[in-house]
Parts: sequence; structure tokens; C-alpha cells
Amino acid sequence: MFARRTNWPLNPNRLSLAVVERRSCGLPILDLTESNPTVCGFDLDRRTVLSALAGEEILRYEPDPRGLLSARRAVVGYYAERGVQLSPEQIFLTTGTSEAYSYIFRLIANAGDHVLAPQPSYPLFDYLAALNDVEVAGYPLYYGQAWHLDIATLEARITPGSRAILVVHPNNPTGSFVRASELERLAECCRTGGLSLVADEVFADYALGANERHIGSHAGFAEVLTFTLSGLSKISALPQIKLAWIAVNGPPATLAQALDRLEIIADTYLSVSTPLAAALPQLLELRHSIQPQIVSRLQGNLEILDQTLGAHSPATRLAIEGGWYAILRLPSVRSDEDWAIELVKEEGVLVHPGHFYDFPTGSYLVVSLLPQPEIFSEGVSRIMRVMERTAT
Ligand SMILES: Cc1ncc(COP(=O)(O)O)c(C=O)c1O
Repeated sequence: MFARRTNWPLNPNRLSLAVVERRSCGLPILDLTESNPTVCGFDLDRRTVLSALAGEEILRYEPDPRGLLSARRAVVGYYAERGVQLSPEQIFLTTGTSEAYSYIFRLIANAGDHVLAPQPSYPLFDYLAALNDVEVAGYPLYYGQAWHLDIATLEARITPGSRAILVVHPNNPTGSFVRASELERLAECCRTGGLSLVADEVFADYALGANERHIGSHAGFAEVLTFTLSGLSKISALPQIKLAWIAVNGPPATLAQALDRLEIIADTYLSVSTPLAAALPQLLELRHSIQPQIVSRLQGNLEILDQTLGAHSPATRLAIEGGWYAILRLPSVRSDEDWAIELVKEEGVLVHPGHFYDFPTGSYLVVSLLPQPEIFSEGVSRIMRVMERTAT
């Protein structure tokens, strides 16, 4: 009765079972996976959000496949601040990046084709691809002081069925930006194989630390057909608004064709409602007040993490260049899943095991840097307690 693409394993995993069991005993959970900014105690300008959603424009319907021009102009302004000049014609609004991925996969791939995605990375790629009848071939990121793309392996995985290279800039959860030298080689792979480049930049405004070796935005990159994705969920910490976009760039003839075809895909759905699109310029402006609060939270929690780990901890924190997450490498005496389950059962702390993000080996735990400092601090102290107990 159901399509094969929906044959997902529906049983809860061992970690979710441990959480349910603890909650059913009435015991609390310190959630260090929390990355919903609307529940992390930031001071959002509520009045602006509410008034942005109540403009006169929302009473008229003037459908535009790309989304309201005023909204796309605001997105163009956002990139202009980053030194990237785009025209509103190059912007398509979507109701979140998931829909943006769907549009792109429908545009560039036939059923059974594949896209190359980083590993470890965003866990939703497998679902987004499968729902669009596309497969995912992983290409590894490797860690040595910092994260790097394994471009030789990526090259070896390109076949005639490859349609795009996906990058996440900075990546979730590794926090690594794509470097200029890496982008050059990715572009070469795209040119040779006739592939597009898809850059997810939802976390691009959250660079941490002075060591910013990254390239800025991919939105201005025109050497190959390039789709850059971002949106309000991270830029303005408004995931509930469900508003994102694709910025398209590339060599002129290919770009023109891509825009024409994408316009028909977008016209088929006309999915972004007028009230949201009309609110976008004001909601995008909110980034100026919310981003400093978030960056300060990320840096503060990172300091708490480093202080709690100290110099002699059996766990190491991997280097981060940006984004909302930190990765801990734990002693491999047990699997990441076993560590995570023990943390829930013994200390009531929830973290994500690395295999959620496709870490191929080792015991890695991923923590969100967004929770309120009291919760974060208590959570990491308990992680240390469990590790010290195991080490002794
Ligand atoms: C890499 C990445 N892309 C996209 C998203 C979601 O963006 P949106 O809410 O616009 O769909 C997330 C959410 O965590 C993410 O980690």
C-alpha cells in the first residue's frame, strides 16, 4: 500500500527509549541537544515580529513564483552586506531549506541519480534525498587540528549518476567552513563531472574565534551552477516562521536555464504565503539584535565546556570555526550510543551520539551550545562525572 521510499525503520532507537523511560519515572532531563532558539532564553524583539506580520500588503494576492519582490530585495541586501552582488531574479523564497533542497533535487537529478554529501553532516540529507528519489553518496571530512574535506575520495566517488556536491558552510555538527583552496577543487570536480554545487549556509553568520579562514558566502560564486541556501531559522533565530531561500548563481547560459526551470517548479507550488514574505524585510533586520546574543551564548558555553574539561580530561573538544555545536571525542571504551545512553540513565543528560551525524568511527558526542548557561554547565559537569567514574 505504501511507497518503498517510506519504508523507514519506525521503531524508537535505544537512546529515545532511555529518555522515555526516564521521563516516565518523573525524572528530569538536561537537554544538551536543544537547538531551538525560541526556548533558549534570548531576548527577541517581540513587537517587531508581531507588527511585521500585520502589514497591509497581506490583504492582496499577487502571486510571484520567486516570492514577493520586496522580500527578495531584502535578501539581495543581506548578501550585499557580505560583498556579494545579486539580482532579485536570482532569489527564490521557500518555506524552509528542506523545500529548497527538494526544488533543487527536482531540478537537477533524475530518479536514482545521487548527490555527494559530507560525512559527518546534517542528518536530514538522507531523508531529503530519498523523498526526491535521489541517493546520497557520502564524502568524508577528516579531522587533524581542524576539519578538512577529503577531496580525493570525493573525486573517486563521482560517476555519471552524480548530480551535485553538497557543502554545509559551516557544517553541522563539525563547525567547519569550506576553505578557498577546497572550493577551487570542488569547482573543478563540478566542471569536470557536470555537477552543481549546493551550499547550505544557514549557520554562516555564526563564525567563532579569530581563525576565520573561510571564503564568505558561496552566493557570489559563478564558476559553476551554484545554489546557496539560507533562511530566517538561524539568521534571525526564527525557525517557526518557516522562511528560507535559494540564491542561484553560475555561468550566464546555465544560470538562465536554471532560473527558467526553477521558476516553473516554484510556480507549481507558490508555497510561501504573502504574510510571511511581506514580513521578511523586517524579520531579517532582527538579526542585528539577536545574533550578538547568540554568539555571546555560544562563546560563553564554549568557555564553560573548556573549563569543565580542563587540561587532563579523557575527553577532547574538537576545534570549531562556527555554528551552534561542539563535538567531544570520548575514550573508545564504549560506543557513542552506549555513552549517550549511560548519560541519560545515570545523570539525566541528553546528548547526540556521533553516529546520528554519520561519524564513521570513534566515540563522539555532539552537544548544542545554545542552552542556557546554567543548564549547559550542569550538563557538562555531569558528562565529566560519568567519564571520571568510567576511567577509575
Ligand atoms: C545544516 C542545516 N540546514 C538547514 C537546517 C534547517 O533550516 P530550515 O529551518 O530553514 O529548514 C538546519 C537545522 O538545524 C541545519 O542544521
